[in-house]
Amino acid sequence: MIAIDAARLTRRLSELARFGALPGGGVTRSCWGPAYEEARKWLLGEIRAAGLTGWVDGAGNVFGGTGIDSFSADRPAIVTGSHIDTVPEGGTLDGALGVIAGLECLQTIVENKATPRRPLAVAAWSDEEGRYGSLFGSRAFCSGIDPAVIPEMAAVDGEKLVDAMRRAGFDPAGVPQAKAPAGAVAGYVELHIEQGPRLEEAGIEIGVVQAIVGVRRSRIIFHGQADHAGTTPMARRRDAFLGAAEYALRAREHVVTRGSAVSVTNIGVVYVHPGASNIVPGRAEMVHEMRDPDPKVLERLWNECRDLADGVARERQLRVEIRPTSATVPAPCSPNVQAAIETVCAKLGHTTERMYSAAGHDAQNLSAVTEAGMIFIPSVGGKSHRTDETSDPRAIERGANVLLHTLLTLAA
Ligand code: HGY
Ligand code: MN
Ligand code: MN
Repeated sequence: MIAIDAARLTRRLSELARFGALPGGGVTRSCWGPAYEEARKWLLGEIRAAGLTGWVDGAGNVFGGTGIDSFSADRPAIVTGSHIDTVPEGGTLDGALGVIAGLECLQTIVENKATPRRPLAVAAWSDEEGRYGSLFGSRAFCSGIDPAVIPEMAAVDGEKLVDAMRRAGFDPAGVPQAKAPAGAVAGYVELHIEQGPRLEEAGIEIGVVQAIVGVRRSRIIFHGQADHAGTTPMARRRDAFLGAAEYALRAREHVVTRGSAVSVTNIGVVYVHPGASNIVPGRAEMVHEMRDPDPKVLERLWNECRDLADGVARERQLRVEIRPTSATVPAPCSPNVQAAIETVCAKLGHTTERMYSAAGHDAQNLSAVTEAGMIFIPSVGGKSHRTDETSDPRAIERGANVLLHTLLTLAA
């Protein structure tokens, strides 16, 4: 059986890790930023050097194709890929593994003159981490993005998507053209690190993803009254931060006690305004997200937390604004793709376990337009979205070979 070139895969992963590399390890490489644009140019160079056709669509998605230079329904392609943007102070494998392993697989297929019936493409989807909008590039490709919402898409720090795109040389008006023609994708499979502890703890080599969680995010803004931190009597203060703090503790408690066994929630962004130690906070803004594989549980928890926010505001004479920012739907993975992955693993002698993904992925957008699936490899210590994210090199090679033969199966 043909196999990938592990040394070349490792080389490319370490070269990609240079773009946005942090002194103490890890990477910050936000989509459309300078480090990302350098990485994009490098990736296109590697795609072309690998003998593939390289192109970029209106949403900034980068593609490498064997025998195709665009997507059309008359030559449906088998697609693989992931993302090369990272969270701030993230790891070097989240996303990058799927793109670089996908490139490696296509190059190996071309070099071995394996001529599958269908063309193949590898994608680096824009802004998977959703700095400006959740799963942006694959959403533009699969369902399209309403041009009317693009001008207001912005990062939590206020930077607008349209400004970031223009600085990178992209015209936001091009985003709607990224929508792929119906029927252009005959199947999708993505290799990704698990980003959790389950495979490692179970001693399983390959995770076969059955479903991907839905994630709902909102900006929650408590408004109080800025006041002098020394002279204002404690009983008269309308402290927005205390409202946010109470909401954060009670919302977490609510999701843990009233959610499902796998509901999770997080508040990872908090801004206090005006933000000086001698001013009672007049405004406290946070981004609250919650996740569950069941859309009904997610909907119920969301409504209950909204009522909780209203209650906290009332009790503390505050005003609260809730602005939903994203809501990805939980996505089932294709049973055929899962079976293909398992058949390949049986042939290669790897242990597998079916599991659901508690992380969101581009595959959940692809699952709306084609048969889509994911291959997971173990994360050391389950660590991810942190600078010490890593996986065993043998697990990386194993995952890439499973991806190679799954792609050949789907493209046959
Ligand atoms: O947030 C997530 O689940 C993914 O890493 N974007
Ligand atoms: Mn991530
Ligand atoms: Mn990812």
